[in-house]
Amino acid sequence: MTRVAGLLVVCTLMLTAAPKTWADDKCFSCHQSLGDRASELFPRDVHRLKGITCAGCHGGNAGIEDMEQAMSKAAGFLGVPKGDEISRACAKCHSSAERMKQYGSSLATGQLEQLQASVHGNLAASGKEHIAQCSTCHNAHGIASVKSAWSPVHPSQLVKTCTRCHANATLMRTYNPSLPVDQLEKYRTSVHGIRHSRGDAKVAECASCHGSHDIRTAKDVKSTVYPTNLPATCAACHSRADYMKEYRIPVDQFEKFSKSVHGVALLQKHDLAAPACNDCHGNHGAAPPGIASVSNVCGTCHALNADLFSASPHKKAFDERKLPECETCHGNHEIIVATNKLLGVASDAVCSRCHSETQNVKGYVVARSMRALIDSLEQGERQAVTLVEGAEQKGMEISEAKFKLRDARQARLEARTMIHSFSSERFEEVVGKGLNVASAVSVEAHEALDEYVFRRIGLGVATLVITVLVISLYLFIRRLERRS
Ligand code: HEC
Ligand code: HEC
Ligand code: HEC
Ligand code: HEC
Ligand code: HEC
Ligand code: HEC
Ligand code: HEC
Ligand code: HEC
Ligand code: HEC
Ligand code: HEC
Ligand code: HEC
Repeated sequence: MTRVAGLLVVCTLMLTAAPKTWADDKCFSCHQSLGDRASELFPRDVHRLKGITCAGCHGGNAGIEDMEQAMSKAAGFLGVPKGDEISRACAKCHSSAERMKQYGSSLATGQLEQLQASVHGNLAASGKEHIAQCSTCHNAHGIASVKSAWSPVHPSQLVKTCTRCHANATLMRTYNPSLPVDQLEKYRTSVHGIRHSRGDAKVAECASCHGSHDIRTAKDVKSTVYPTNLPATCAACHSRADYMKEYRIPVDQFEKFSKSVHGVALLQKHDLAAPACNDCHGNHGAAPPGIASVSNVCGTCHALNADLFSASPHKKAFDERKLPECETCHGNHEIIVATNKLLGVASDAVCSRCHSETQNVKGYVVARSMRALIDSLEQGERQAVTLVEGAEQKGMEISEAKFKLRDARQARLEARTMIHSFSSERFEEVVGKGLNVASAVSVEAHEALDEYVFRRIGLGVATLVITVLVISLYLFIRRLERRS
């Protein structure tokens, strides 16, 4: 029994495995004499090095010298594969771990399945085949290990391979006219692209951000560039101290970002309004925003703050000193929830970094008064809230005052934004509005509480009167009874 099984294994090996020497590949030796391109490239092909013959992909019998017989249907000759037949031919081995093992390979399998699920597995414009076949990215002959510098998917070559389509407006229009074709143009302006063009293969190229066989549109939640996945995609390089060592730049961006107000909103609350790395750095133009553009970046979402800042005295002062606008006070990756602590002249307030009693004094005075004002607004609001809650608990009708509390809260939020005008007049105006509302609410709540006390007294008096009446009545009845 084992003998039969053993024989079977030997037979299959003979059918699929390599001829013992390259001279036994009759397909190759005949074609080489023809001098065609396929056999010119074949000697350095990884497949040839594994003993795979021309028949590995084309079928036929590599052991027969006669052309007709070698390339006959009977011998399983497939001819030249076209369209989806190409990927299917590759997948015969590359989607079968068992087949690959026969060649002594433990390479990952399943590339075709991934490709089919990817955006390149969509139907091409002709409607007859898929957009990309294995040979689109790897070639058909002279296939190299992906680690080899002349493989078309090696980092040094890949940008060319992808942009053969993606920078070809005519071609791309036939598939999807709405898809931009400016990736290469933008990439060339980025730190990644500039270094890449100088031969640095460690910077991000197309596949570092998009993947290889499983590329998806950015709108797909499984895409490596979907907003909630993107920070991890960048961190795969930027958080690796060993990988980034030679560049001498920090590797803490992801760590800081994930703890920041933006990172928590995006990664934990899945709030897509919060920025991912690319919202500040660009997709293909990934670069540190230049000083001039930092506030533009923040301003795309925080428009009001940016407008106020631009009209403030800091605009000119910061420009002259080449200070970045928002970043100077808020940082970039580690931006935390803004609190009143930032404001004022205490040692942990940002204003005190540049303003003191001896330096830029006017700013010092304004910072101190702004802080006092916002503190008093918060205190006024808190007091109003406490009073309203007290009155509510006692069952008083106070919905109108409660509604007005929203105005006080609104004014507080506006005041936080208005700080960026760095103008005491404009700030006082907003805070004043809030203080007025807060005190009006407090007054109403007080009145409600007074009313409550009044009613309690009224109730007490009434109870007393009734009690006295009941007792008198009782005594009166007793007297009547005694009399009778
Ligand atoms: C004795 C020489 C010889 C042998 C052996 C031979 N071929 Fe060919 N092959 C040719 C010639 C000549 C052509 C060109 C025929 C033509 O243009 O019709 C050709 C054409 C082809 C083509 C292109 C077919 C097409 O439709 O354009 C492929 C693919 C091919 N051979 C693969 C193989 C494979 C695989 C083997 C081994 C199983 C093999 N050949 C063995 C000589 C040979
Ligand atoms: C790894 C798979 C694979 C192997 C091995 C392979 N081919 Fe091909 N061959 C292809 C594919 C795929 C095509 C279709 C090419 C295309 O459309 O880009 C092709 C096309 C051809 C063609 C048509 C003309 C051309 O160049 O496009 C010839 C001739 C050919 N192969 C000959 C050979 C010969 C001879 C060998 C062995 C020396 C060989 N092939 C080995 C996959 C292979
Ligand atoms: C859109 C381009 C593209 C297409 C199409 C493509 N590949 Fe790849 N392939 C790549 C890139 C890029 C890599 C390198 C990945 C890496 O280094 O992580 C790769 C790597 C590989 C590897 C090395 C092992 C691995 O998985 O990383 C094999 C094997 C492979 N591809 C086979 C295939 C086969 C088979 C097909 C067709 C089903 C195919 N490829 C289609 C781009 C492509
Ligand atoms: C007859 C089986 C077979 C067929 C068919 C086949 N391959 Fe391969 N392929 C292999 C084996 C075996 C290796 C070597 C794996 C290794 O070195 O571990 C390999 C290696 C590769 C590699 C290099 C992976 C690396 O190590 O970086 C690429 C790329 C590749 N094949 C692509 C293709 C493409 C594209 C096709 C179709 C045009 C194809 N293969 C058809 C068996 C096959
Ligand atoms: C540093 C990471 C990174 C690199 C490198 C990169 N991309 Fe992108 N790519 C992205 C991000 C992020 C998006 C958009 C995500 C979004 O729209 O939310 C994107 C979007 C795309 C799109 C969709 C259309 C568009 O422009 O928005 C295509 C196509 C694309 N990239 C192709 C490429 C090609 C080709 C390359 C290589 C030249 C490349 N990418 C390099 C990160 C990258
Ligand atoms: C054969 C041409 C071709 C090649 C080569 C190619 N692509 Fe594409 N790619 C397309 C087409 C066409 C689409 C549009 C598919 C659609 O929208 O249905 C596309 C879509 C994409 C998308 C999705 C865009 C979106 O958001 O809708 C990304 C990302 C992408 N390709 C990246 C790459 C990368 C990275 C490479 C190189 C590894 C690459 N492509 C190689 C033709 C190609
Ligand atoms: C394949 C690894 C890799 C990936 C993935 C990657 N980068 Fe880079 N990036 C680098 C390398 C290497 C440099 C060069 C560092 C240098 O020159 O300072 C760099 C440079 C940068 C720079 C310029 C830094 C400076 O001031 O010099 C920025 C900004 C940047 N990357 C952002 C990103 C963003 C955002 C992403 C994700 C969308 C990303 N990178 C993905 C490797 C990567
Ligand atoms: C809210 C906007 C914003 C987000 C989100 C953001 N960055 Fe930055 N990034 C900046 C600014 C601003 C700079 C500093 C530019 C300067 O000082 O010239 C910077 C600088 C960098 C640098 C240069 C080195 C350094 O640390 O100064 C790298 C690399 C970088 N960012 C990568 C990333 C990565 C990776 C992510 C996502 C995990 C990310 N950034 C998210 C705004 C942002
Ligand atoms: C893509 C849009 C976007 C960009 C770009 C952006 N932010 Fe934000 N930011 C948000 C969102 C959304 C929140 C609210 C997060 C939360 O609290 O859930 C936020 C919160 C903040 C907060 C905390 C607000 C608070 O109530 O305490 C500060 C401070 C901040 N961002 C500053 C910046 C700065 C500085 C930049 C530029 C370096 C910037 N943001 C870029 C969307 C953005
Ligand atoms: C001179 C320091 C300074 C600069 C410059 C600055 N901020 Fe602020 N920012 C503050 C202070 C102080 C607060 C208020 C914290 C509080 O009291 O709650 C604040 C609060 C915020 C808030 C939360 C309040 C709100 O408006 O929702 C956001 C968002 C914000 N800043 C964004 C920005 C943006 C965007 C820029 C650049 C255009 C910027 N900041 C520039 C100091 C600064
Ligand atoms: C990075 C340094 C820096 C920080 C931080 C900073 N300022 Fe300033 N501020 C300046 C400079 C420089 C000027 C211009 C002084 C001048 O022209 O005399 C200025 C001017 C001002 C002015 C206008 C003064 C005038 O002469 O009209 C006000 C008001 C002001 N700052 C308030 C603040 C407040 C409030 C904070 C904290 C939220 C703050 N600043 C934080 C550097 C800073």
